[in-house]
Amino acid sequence: MIESLCVKVPRPAGESTRKSLIELHLLDNNLKIKSNKHYIFIPVSKPIEGLGELGTEFFEIAGHENPMPPVSGAYELIGDIAIIDQHEKNPLEMANVLLKHKNIKTIFQATSAVSGEYRTREVSFIKGEKKTETIYRENGCKYLLDVTQVYFTPRLSTERMRITAQVKNGDTVVDMFAGIGPFSILIAKTYPDSYVIAVDKNPVAIKYLRENARLNKIKNIEIREGDAKNEIKGISDADHVIMNLPHSGFEFLDSTFGIIKRGGIIHFYAISHEADLFEGLTGEIEACARKAGLQVFSLDRRIVRPYAPYQYNICIDFQVSSQVI
Ligand SMILES: C[S@@+](CC[C@H](N)C(=O)[O-])C[C@H]1O[C@@H](n2cnc3c(N)ncnc32)[C@H](O)[C@@H]1O
Repeated sequence: MIESLCVKVPRPAGESTRKSLIELHLLDNNLKIKSNKHYIFIPVSKPIEGLGELGTEFFEIAGHENPMPPVSGAYELIGDIAIIDQHEKNPLEMANVLLKHKNIKTIFQATSAVSGEYRTREVSFIKGEKKTETIYRENGCKYLLDVTQVYFTPRLSTERMRITAQVKNGDTVVDMFAGIGPFSILIAKTYPDSYVIAVDKNPVAIKYLRENARLNKIKNIEIREGDAKNEIKGISDADHVIMNLPHSGFEFLDSTFGIIKRGGIIHFYAISHEADLFEGLTGEIEACARKAGLQVFSLDRRIVRPYAPYQYNICIDFQVSSQVI
């Protein structure tokens, strides 16, 4: 056994945290990941902020068994569809290895980055069953989606758990950019006495969101199709507002200040450079709040996942003060 620095996360967050650590080149592959009833302990080569609790533990040296055939190259697995990174040079070679896994049926390669208002990406078919719809399971919920027509990434599963853990039964939660519903449905299912208002502008995402509410037998959800600025008008006293539109959240912040209750929490996502992950954004949020006659203070600031070289998808949770300024 060897003592090592590690990241400790709740069990359901283990796999996505492991993937984030691989992307950050921080996973210590020489040691075996270990777990207890509630937590996974992942050995890391350097300290990392924002992915879980840092600590030290004793680990066994890793063996060579590997349940997945080794795939050299980056890909994302959504249900039984694998999407190979657009920069990979040998997609067919990767597809041949991936299709040996019994749970993988279809292989695409991304041909564009996630882009546009609906945050979708172009893909080209490589091999396997020709289909774009799949069912993805996460945190005890299932989601039907079309990988070419809606935004979805499994890499936010830890984040969805983290936000859900902050909600209470009885809360009103507004998910302004809900997509096919992975935040909304998990929250509504976890807290049957909460009330979730889920908004998205993409009609196809809304179609799947409705279907996913049915699949997961969710009743305490109201689904609204359209621009979040218009669709949230008239809401008052939200306890939590989730703003998962990292490239343009600031455009909507003013509207959000109109619906959040004093003492309520806004979960604000952004893309940030490693040179200034949080300070600049926090200052901008505070300035925006002052204009709305509000005072805010941040409760938590964390890296959600790496986004591009030197850039990170981050989240700032901030609370609106109950004091009037
Ligand atoms: C980054 S995705 C997040 C989706 C979802 N929260 C998730 O975790 O999978 C952003 C979503 O915002 C939606 N969107 C973009 N602009 C919007 C707007 N003005 N009003 C409402 N939704 C919008 C997109 O269609 C997309 O589904």
